Amino acid sequence: MHKDIEPAILYFGTPVVLVSTLNEDGTTNVAPISSIWWLGWSCMIGVDASSQTTENLRRTGECVLNLPSANLVESVNRIAKTTGRKRLPLHKKALGYQHEPDKLSLSGLTPQTSVAVKSPRLQECPIQLEATLSKTIPFGDENPKMSIPSVAFELNIEKVHADESLLVHSEKSYIDPDKWHPLIMSFRKFYSTGNFIYKSKLSEGSENQYAPWKQRGWKRKLTEWVLAKNTKRYKDAVSKDRAA
Ligand SMILES: Cc1cc2nc3c(=O)[nH]c(=O)nc-3n(C[C@H](O)[C@H](O)[C@H](O)COP(=O)(O)O)c2cc1C
Repeated sequence: MHKDIEPAILYFGTPVVLVSTLNEDGTTNVAPISSIWWLGWSCMIGVDASSQTTENLRRTGECVLNLPSANLVESVNRIAKTTGRKRLPLHKKALGYQHEPDKLSLSGLTPQTSVAVKSPRLQECPIQLEATLSKTIPFGDENPKMSIPSVAFELNIEKVHADESLLVHSEKSYIDPDKWHPLIMSFRKFYSTGNFIYKSKLSEGSENQYAPWKQRGWKRKLTEWVLAKNTKRYKDAVSKDRAA
């Protein structure tokens, strides 16, 4: 039997990401978040509007999303309940947060120069995504159950770096989910992925079906033609929604 419940949080399990951004003085700030999802090479993150990460992303328009494996859980926990923000917002004071000017050192992780952005990557994280800011959207501002002002940042992924040991084949761009065990947060507790459980219909055919820009020759031309027709129809539908 199902019961109507009112959970305080709806954290159903998403990967933990360490967002590295640059502070105004050029030092690095690192913040764990887990409100994140991807569609294609675009990504949406949900961040507390009062965080240092929000300030840095707004000012610099870029960041690196570093995905830790399960074995980096202690580094993540070390910087939990800290903020790079000098003046602690009241809700963070009440929750026992502390100001930490050098979260990078506290995490014990090593900065590594990025290729497309100025914020550094974190060497120990096996997946590092360099990203630039596309859109900033107020999030949940019309929902009475949203307790703190929050922002959704839409990011363009510019570069993907993956540790070679996670790849299906060292010369190809496929990450093997049997080798990659990300750190997951579910209802404020840490987990990771387990074993493969069932053959997925979605995994039939090449992963490249999702990346028409990887195709060559006539196949690419045909795909572009189909996509152009599709995009026109889709864009019309979106503009009708906006007008309504
Ligand atoms: C595992 C984990 C997941 C978190 N997820 C989020 C999140 O999705 N969004 C968010 O705003 N804060 C999240 N936090 C809290 C932020 O880390 C916190 O707001 C932090 O103070 C931000 O740091 P900053 O102010 O230096 O940017 C999470 C913390 C932990 C430890």
